[in-house]
Amino acid sequence: MPRPKRITVPEFTAFKKAGHKISMLTAYDYPTAQLVDEAGVEGILVGDSLSMVVQGRENTLPVTLEEMLYHAEMVGRAVDRALVVVDMPFPSNHLGKYKAIDFAGRILKESRAQAVKLEGGVEQADVIQALVSAGIPVMAHCGLGPQSVHQLGGYRVQRNRLDLLSDAQAATQAGAFAMVLECVPSRLGAEITESIAIPTIGIGAGPSCDGQVLVVSDLLGLTSGYVPKFAKQYANLKGTIVEAVTQYRDEVRDGVFPSDEHGYA
Ligand code: KIV
Repeated sequence: MPRPKRITVPEFTAFKKAGHKISMLTAYDYPTAQLVDEAGVEGILVGDSLSMVVQGRENTLPVTLEEMLYHAEMVGRAVDRALVVVDMPFPSNHLGKYKAIDFAGRILKESRAQAVKLEGGVEQADVIQALVSAGIPVMAHCGLGPQSVHQLGGYRVQRNRLDLLSDAQAATQAGAFAMVLECVPSRLGAEITESIAIPTIGIGAGPSCDGQVLVVSDLLGLTSGYVPKFAKQYANLKGTIVEAVTQYRDEVRDGVFPSDEHGYA
């Protein structure tokens, strides 16, 4: 049976003009991507946040291209409808245009992803342009760039209005089809959203963005430790999982599981 039609890059960009609010969520594996797609979000991001969320690392810097490809392939295989975007891992988009095309090309060739995302505005405009010229759609990522955590001295709200407006303009003019806007004051999120023709996908950038993105484990209540202020928890799967596993452990210990019902005659 043919698979349903997936949301295309031009359709994704057109949501802004149509006033259709876009929801995006991260996913890193086949079963989660299937569920997120079934729920009907417009975009799924294989974020380099997998470095922290899946691999338990301190920040997003260590994840490699091979690891991103491994997860992107699982997600791409699961998705029937949503647009799939994959993060360029640090520092793959800083090694020159041709290396960036090589890496981004592998992402599109080896997974069913339709686009890549990269952090940066003005200083990444030439790379965005080169990728777009090669037929590789780019989602820009402005505001807080977690890959620059050492340079920034932490994950801080970004307030430099003129720099942020210039970044948004530069990425748009370079050909990005959409833009993640991370950790900027809501009023600035609104101003940037109004100033560009492509959709802004906010994460901690206020309600006026054209869409929102969250890390799936934050939304589902699976994150241990620090959860940023912008993340809303819609379920408590951590509690549900610990409760189920504790019950299983107790039933094994007490000889309640397995009963005849779960055995063979
Ligand atoms: O890696 C990621 O999950 C992201 C989102 C937080 C936007 O870049």
